[in-house]
Amino acid sequence: MSAYEPMSFHLETERLILQPWAETDAEALCALHAERGDGNLTVEEARELIANGLASAASSGIALLPIRRRVENDFIGYCGLLVGRATIEEPEIAYELFQRVHGNGYATEAARAVLDAAIATGRRRLWSTVRTWNTASFRVLDKLDFERDHTTTDDRGDIVWLTRALP
Ligand SMILES: CC(C)(COP(=O)(O)OP(=O)(O)OC[C@H]1O[C@@H](n2cnc3c(N)ncnc32)[C@H](O)[C@@H]1OP(=O)(O)O)[C@@H](O)C(=O)NCCC(=O)NCCS
Repeated sequence: MSAYEPMSFHLETERLILQPWAETDAEALCALHAERGDGNLTVEEARELIANGLASAASSGIALLPIRRRVENDFIGYCGLLVGRATIEEPEIAYELFQRVHGNGYATEAARAVLDAAIATGRRRLWSTVRTWNTASFRVLDKLDFERDHTTTDDRGDIVWLTRALP
């Protein structure tokens, strides 16, 4: 059992609602993957990802959550915590939004809510790993007071590790 409280899977901000995945999010998740351009996902595969994500959230107490805008009531991406390249004690924060909504401060708004949710679990530190070209992601993390820690390299290039101590 984890030493930390489970993260809240219902987060609300001024403009956004983050809540657990539904099977009906599968098509939107496919569209988000398609935008990335690193291979397409079938709706069936997206449904499986969602089911696995829900199971892993229940067992690990952390999750990536779909983001909906309150006014438009549309799926615009996801944000949350995952082990990723880090650990369950000091997980990574991650986010991905549709290009059509970039530049509106949504990632920062969602990530701030996730940061608060991470604090509420009792965790003391978060990480984020970012490819060197990803200016928008560095800017989001900068606004949340993450600091650059070190760099590692994989077969696709350099990865910057940023960290944020939690109060
Ligand atoms: C990273 C991402 C989630 C940011 O979403 P967003 O909602 O546009 O982010 P925000 O609007 O909250 O903040 C983006 C900031 O980056 C800045 N920015 C964006 N592109 C930029 C660029 N090319 N050069 C300089 N600044 C840039 C914006 O101006 C804004 O900063 P500001 O508030 O000081 O003006 C989005 O770009 C995305 O989904 N990218 C693809 C997935 C991804 O890379 N995820 C992160 C992996 S580590």
